[in-house]
Amino acid sequence: MKLGEQKIQWVSQYMPLLNKIRDDERLNQPLKDVKIGMSIHLEAKTAYLAMTLKELGAVVAITGSNPLSTQDDVASALKDFGISVYGKHTHDENEYKTGIRKVLDFMPDLILDDGADLTVTAYTTNHPVVETLKGVTEETTTGVRRLRSLHNSGLLKVPVIAVNNAHTKYLFDNRYGTGQSTWDSIMRNTNLLIAGKTVVIAGYGWCGRGIASRAKGLGARVIVTEVEPVRALEAAMDGFTVMTMKEAAEHGDFFITATGDINVIGEEHFLLMKDGAVLANAGHFNVEIDVKALSKISVDVFQARPNVDGYKLPNGKTLYLLSEGRLVNLAGADGHPVEIMDLSFAVQVMSLIYLTQHSLKPGVYPVLKEIDESIARAKLKCMGITIDSLGKDQKDYLESF
Ligand code: NAI
Repeated sequence: MKLGEQKIQWVSQYMPLLNKIRDDERLNQPLKDVKIGMSIHLEAKTAYLAMTLKELGAVVAITGSNPLSTQDDVASALKDFGISVYGKHTHDENEYKTGIRKVLDFMPDLILDDGADLTVTAYTTNHPVVETLKGVTEETTTGVRRLRSLHNSGLLKVPVIAVNNAHTKYLFDNRYGTGQSTWDSIMRNTNLLIAGKTVVIAGYGWCGRGIASRAKGLGARVIVTEVEPVRALEAAMDGFTVMTMKEAAEHGDFFITATGDINVIGEEHFLLMKDGAVLANAGHFNVEIDVKALSKISVDVFQARPNVDGYKLPNGKTLYLLSEGRLVNLAGADGHPVEIMDLSFAVQVMSLIYLTQHSLKPGVYPVLKEIDESIARAKLKCMGITIDSLGKDQKDYLESF
């Protein structure tokens, strides 16, 4: 078996929800002849998602959602399963954009987006697909934000389901998925000790919370930076030190951004940092660490290890940037743990089926509570966990005043 095929085979054993949907719906073919265009980090778990959609009747074309996160061995295996694959691992932004355009040229009925590059490109370039497109599902926080802006500007002409905002997605994927996989990538790429180090985390959202709790578990001292007062207060009461990035800059051994925002770490911070500090980004786009400014002020840039670039500053110190500032867990490792993506992708499949069965006005919609709860119940069942249910007296009591 080729490596890519092995990787897909491996994850398929640990995705019981996707397997159950395949078993339950194979005969019904709920996605029969529906053309689905996907832009998502192209690795084994997303490959298995694409194969599941095909199994349910869909015709699928896929490209990456980040130039560095595509795993070419998996992409090649996926082609052998009859899926049109356009993405490849590349450092060239234009090659990445070509993949996006090719999936749009495939004229999908539905788009499964991760970060909204497919949908935003379709509407801002007025691609012919906008005449026939029926709906979109969006995987991540940044994509939902962009699609809301697209809708507010009047450009979006189809319904979007915000998969990211399902409880069974962000509470687990963004928190525990990013929490584990960010550290997996930092550790495998640097081989450095985390215990006793100071970790600065920018953003105490769902991703930031996960990264912070795992850093604490690894024995690090954790500093959080925030712009929202409630989140900052929460970080403080979770036991973390909260300060500004300017104050934190001189303390950190590791800096991790997870904000979805731009220029969170910039020139004024780089110059204050310790020699040997490691910088990584876990947010969707490579805009959180100002890499252009870092390059501009550096007197030398060199590869220190695979996925690790050294930037020698004029003050004699060297900073190390992981995966070019792209989302570190996917550009430098395999992304979230398999069982986590089983949940997220069950939401994706159910949302795509929902879009084929309902006609909705243009807008950004939440995942139905019933879908969210049924996925949580099914996952509990897979984990061998049973929970109590409300008795009539309890229901009545809880509805009384
Ligand atoms: P969120 O909205 O829950 O949290 C973001 C937090 O960052 C907010 O609390 C916000 O106040 C804070 N923030 C914004 N600008 C800031 C600044 N300049 N300095 C400090 N804090 C700032 O978002 P979530 O779900 O945590 O996602 C964050 C990013 O991670 C998004 O880009 C999302 O798409 C991405 N993401 C990445 C994943 C991965 O696999 N690496 C998985 C899931 C999401």
